[in-house]
Amino acid sequence: MFERILVVGSGAREHALCWALAREPGVTEVLSVPGNAGTALVARNVCADGADVGQLRALVERERVDLTVVGPELPLTQGLANELVAAGHPVVGPSKEAAELESSKAFAKGLMTRHGVPTARYVVCTSPAAARDAIRSGAFGYPVVLKADGLAAGKGVVVARDEAGALAAAEDIMETRRFGDAGSRLVVEECLVGREASFFAVTDGRHVVVLPSAEDHKRAFDDDQGPNTGGMGAFSPSPLIDGRMRQRVLDEIVEPTLWGMESEGRRYAGFLYVGLMLTAEGPKVVEFNARMGDPESQVVLPAVEGGLLATLVAAARGTLAPGVLPASSDRFVGVVMASGGYPDRYETGKTIGGLEHASALTGVLVFHAGTAMRDGRVMTSGGRVLTVVGKGSDFAAARARAYDGAAAISFDGMFYRRDIGLRAVDSRQ
Ligand code: AMP
Ligand code: GLY
Repeated sequence: MFERILVVGSGAREHALCWALAREPGVTEVLSVPGNAGTALVARNVCADGADVGQLRALVERERVDLTVVGPELPLTQGLANELVAAGHPVVGPSKEAAELESSKAFAKGLMTRHGVPTARYVVCTSPAAARDAIRSGAFGYPVVLKADGLAAGKGVVVARDEAGALAAAEDIMETRRFGDAGSRLVVEECLVGREASFFAVTDGRHVVVLPSAEDHKRAFDDDQGPNTGGMGAFSPSPLIDGRMRQRVLDEIVEPTLWGMESEGRRYAGFLYVGLMLTAEGPKVVEFNARMGDPESQVVLPAVEGGLLATLVAAARGTLAPGVLPASSDRFVGVVMASGGYPDRYETGKTIGGLEHASALTGVLVFHAGTAMRDGRVMTSGGRVLTVVGKGSDFAAARARAYDGAAAISFDGMFYRRDIGLRAVDSRQ
């Protein structure tokens, strides 16, 4: 029996995972490491160092955890799944070797090339001189995309308009080392033109169960202005991914990727996030992530109408039967409420008002990210503070619910985008 589930992480994605798993029949307790003020409503928060894989294994053993679900990429790249699998504990999340699909863009690009997975044309540069040569060759036209090889919290990608901008960005990444060692290698690639959507699956390495799709909004301000962030909102499903497109993505991208990973000795199990560009030539991979998206999880998981735990267990055991998780016919829109100044400097420790009122509204869910409980009050403790999710029979209704929820909440300096999900309304799906 899978009764005791551990969710690793402390964002709104992890609150959504805790919320979804706590509702599964047979689950008696969800543990959240380290969690936040929201996960405490549906799970038991346990204080542990999420980056210390040995400490997490000890926790799994002490608490007799039946299944561990890993939210963020960092513990995966540090070998948390390796550690748990070696000790015989079921885990949802790839080994650190398989997680290189996210943690090394050079590896991911090479894998795609070796196994015929459609993606942007590219070159990997291992020195600043090689990067300058690649840029000056003009082989990719303009704009051109530059990516730090390693993890850079979603900020290691620059779209440069001209040669001067590209050279400056390459210097910033490879010589100034703006993202540290992540910039020891640089991927230079062609800029893809099309519309972006996120495709999610759970896999045991061979078989795949598809989750609802989503689209996110990465820029800080309305109309895609301002700096890139971890994500300021999302909606599900993506009107761009119909049944035919889903099958194309499975056949042309997911299957060859999983086959490639296994044939190279890196069998990939866990959540797989495929960032897609839907181009005139078909779907192409912008990036892979070795985990669910944030804020996409907050709109995808409420859309799942059953079978989540059984799917995760089968993925961890290597016994997954291929399929598609049953999904609601409703639409979901999630608005991220952030601290003033995010994604740069911001203040924390602000009291959050209106949470109970917002959560009590029909068709509204509130997932916490940077929140903490102090003296009986919920306070802000991070840049992205909450995701307020609205559900409706169409995107306009879902947006209205989400923004009703957001309007009920207040904290000093808060801001949120007003146009989340608008592009889905405009596409009339
Ligand atoms: P990544 O960190 O790889 O997800 O990249 C962040 C964002 O940069 C993506 O969501 C895209 O909007 C954009 N991007 C990355 N690669 C490309 C590309 N080859 N062409 C166009 N846009 C890209
Ligand atoms: N929303 C983008 C990500 O989770 O990487």
